[in-house]
Amino acid sequence: MDCKIGVISGDGIGPEIVTEAKKVLEQIGNKYGHKFQYTEILMGGCSIDATGVPLTDEAIEAAKASDAVLMGSIGGNTSTSPWYKLAPELRPEAGLLKLRKSLNLFANLRPAYLYKELKAACPLRDDIIGDGFDMMIMRELTGGLYFGERRTEEIDGVMTAMDSLTYNENEIRRIAKRGFDIAMKRRKKVTSVDKANVLDSSRLWRKIVEEVAKDYPEVSYEHMLVDNCAMQLVKDPKQFDVILTENMFGDILSDEASMVTGSIGMLSSASLNDTKFGLYEPSGGSAPDIAGKGIANPIATILSAAMMLRYTFDLDKEADAIEQAVKQVLKEGYRTIDIMPQAGESKEGITQVKTAEMGDLIAARV
Ligand code: NAD
Ligand code: IPM
Ligand code: MN
Repeated sequence: MDCKIGVISGDGIGPEIVTEAKKVLEQIGNKYGHKFQYTEILMGGCSIDATGVPLTDEAIEAAKASDAVLMGSIGGNTSTSPWYKLAPELRPEAGLLKLRKSLNLFANLRPAYLYKELKAACPLRDDIIGDGFDMMIMRELTGGLYFGERRTEEIDGVMTAMDSLTYNENEIRRIAKRGFDIAMKRRKKVTSVDKANVLDSSRLWRKIVEEVAKDYPEVSYEHMLVDNCAMQLVKDPKQFDVILTENMFGDILSDEASMVTGSIGMLSSASLNDTKFGLYEPSGGSAPDIAGKGIANPIATILSAAMMLRYTFDLDKEADAIEQAVKQVLKEGYRTIDIMPQAGESKEGITQVKTAEMGDLIAARV
């Protein structure tokens, strides 16, 4: 198969982790006879430096002309980088939000799965971990606070800032359907997370989810308030199958869920619309604190590439091969620093490796 892939390496650790994902794809291409053709697309801080804006129209067109986009991460240190002295719409993150909106990528899938080999990296107690857990966070990605009306102004001599959280019933219905569809292929349980005890947008969310649920009699579902969900994620993560939630809640809960899988460096993601196109990226950021040191974990990006093969190209066998290779490498005891055993856990049979080595090891096992 010929696959046209747009590549956004981005900033910070972005180029380091994307290199490893391409390494693994190269191996897949050789083994299974596929051709991956890459087009580099500028986005984020590197685009600001080169063009003055975080995402040009040409970059959007290049993304649209690709079958899928594989991305690293964008952004810098938000306290010290000069990019954050620019107007908000010229900062790195504005590029990513514009790309998501331009491509209508409303469904963000973030699978949080604890590999049994990584139990020692999970900060939770053994009795909580049990046989591990496997959840899918279905995050709405093109609505809510991220895209609502926003301004800062002086009102009666007082500086005042406003961000609005808006959802219409159609936006809620389409993401809810995606959540229930994916639950049908999993353990058939949906936990819809909202703040319906306070927010109108959440009350509408709940009403529409109830309507959608009627079309999926086999799926059991519940509503959970977001503050409780944040707590339940560390109290008993096994209870979750699909977590269905709005944009901002999903952003926060997915970082939390990632840590119970060992590290944000393990959490892959797919951002999808109504076509086969997808944007595939790790859920974590550009990690300015470790950028350039060659120690970032490339696994989330490699697993995002596997999601790309699965969702955009229907190459299930190849996606399985990548996932198995990751499992194998973890089984053999190789770890980047972020997934090393927690303090007090045994390090017997564990070898700490750097980013490129981890990529080599996984590529060699596909
Ligand atoms: P971050 O996710 O970049 O980093 C948080 C912590 O996790 C850091 O200690 C970092 O070293 C660690 N970490 C992240 N990814 C890792 C990996 N692959 N391997 C090992 N450790 C990893 O979050 P932040 O520091 O809050 O944000 C930094 C920048 O990244 C900001 O500009 C932010 O806007 C941006 N960001 C971008 C994306 C994206 O491109 N999708 C996502 C999140 C944050
Ligand atoms: C993510 C990131 C982005 C988000 C930022 C960089 C805008 O945190 O993909 O989780 O909040 O969606
Ligand atoms: Mn985030």
